Amino acid sequence: MNSIRSRRWRWLSWLLPNTLTTVGVLAMVLGTSPGVDAQFDGILLAIVIAVAAALAIEFLVCLWIAPSRRGRRAYLSSSKGMVDLACALALPLGWLLAPDVHDARLFALVWTLRYISHSTGLTLIWRVMIRSRVALLSIAGLFLVVTLTGATLAHVFERETQPQMFGSVGRALWWAIVTLTTTGYGDVVPTTIWGRLLAGWVMVGGIVMFALQAGIIATAFAEELQRRHFLRTWELVISVPFFRDLGAAAVADIVRLLQARDVNAGTVVVREGEPGDAMYFIVSGEATVRVAPKPVVLGPGSFFGEMALLFNTPRSATVVATQPSVLLVLDIADFHQLAGRRPEFVNLIETEGRLRRDQNVTAG
Ligand code: CMP
Repeated sequence: MNSIRSRRWRWLSWLLPNTLTTVGVLAMVLGTSPGVDAQFDGILLAIVIAVAAALAIEFLVCLWIAPSRRGRRAYLSSSKGMVDLACALALPLGWLLAPDVHDARLFALVWTLRYISHSTGLTLIWRVMIRSRVALLSIAGLFLVVTLTGATLAHVFERETQPQMFGSVGRALWWAIVTLTTTGYGDVVPTTIWGRLLAGWVMVGGIVMFALQAGIIATAFAEELQRRHFLRTWELVISVPFFRDLGAAAVADIVRLLQARDVNAGTVVVREGEPGDAMYFIVSGEATVRVAPKPVVLGPGSFFGEMALLFNTPRSATVVATQPSVLLVLDIADFHQLAGRRPEFVNLIETEGRLRRDQNVTAG
């Protein structure tokens, strides 16, 4: 019940500020349309002012509810605090700096920072950029060299036929950038045969460079996500005493094979009679094994689903998550691989599996 309420609260606290920002920014954008009549323009201006006031109040409330002076300083130096301050000051600054009221409204654009100030995706992008900075800087250097070379050659080939566009290397730079980025506005076009050959070369160079850049960024993204996944799984794994007792080397070996899975209360994780494809370790929460005569409740640190893998039999019982739980899943193929590499790990599981099987036989 509490978790539903907190989820609803989290959803509301995401929805309300974003709706406010969107309404304010939309009113600013609509206000720039030339056809807007005076009455509608007045309404849009009132909306922008109301949103600006709400943002200023929100900032002051955040400052006010900070528990101490240190808390206030922490809020102000956080990315959220800085964005909130910038949003609160955007419109007053606009009115100070911009000559007319229409231009002052454009400062509401600063409010869009709120969309990204809470986003973890932003830190992810930042880390990816930092991680691939050397490769990206090399590409940027290459881009510069090819642009300058293209502009210089275009100047040589085209200056006589089109002095207006290619009369200097500086003028030819516009053509080189538009061609290298494969934008192709078509406002400047080479007319000599050498100029056209050069254009083809610059276009192909541009495609290769952008493909390289995309590849570098995609690889860095994948590596960063993998690193995060590894760290999260590592934290979960060492929170389970069963793994902690195996030692760091074994944990490092096993952690790569485990997948974290969040399950809701009531989820049937394992169904009696089905073939076994994985076993599960409970990090947090609770699971109930439906065995006769009395169901067995398993808590954090326990595991289940091992019997089908060990004895090559169908699932001996149905196991249901009776609380929202975090599980670590070990695939059957990885389980058998581990049995060869880490016999101590599988022996521990086998001892428990045999015990459970005997208990079921006795009870049956
Ligand atoms: P498996 O047979 O693969 O799927 C059902 C799981 O329930 C089983 O593995 C065990 O992990 C677990 N289980 C079965 N019987 C018991 C028991 N008596 N006590 C605890 N767990 C059990």
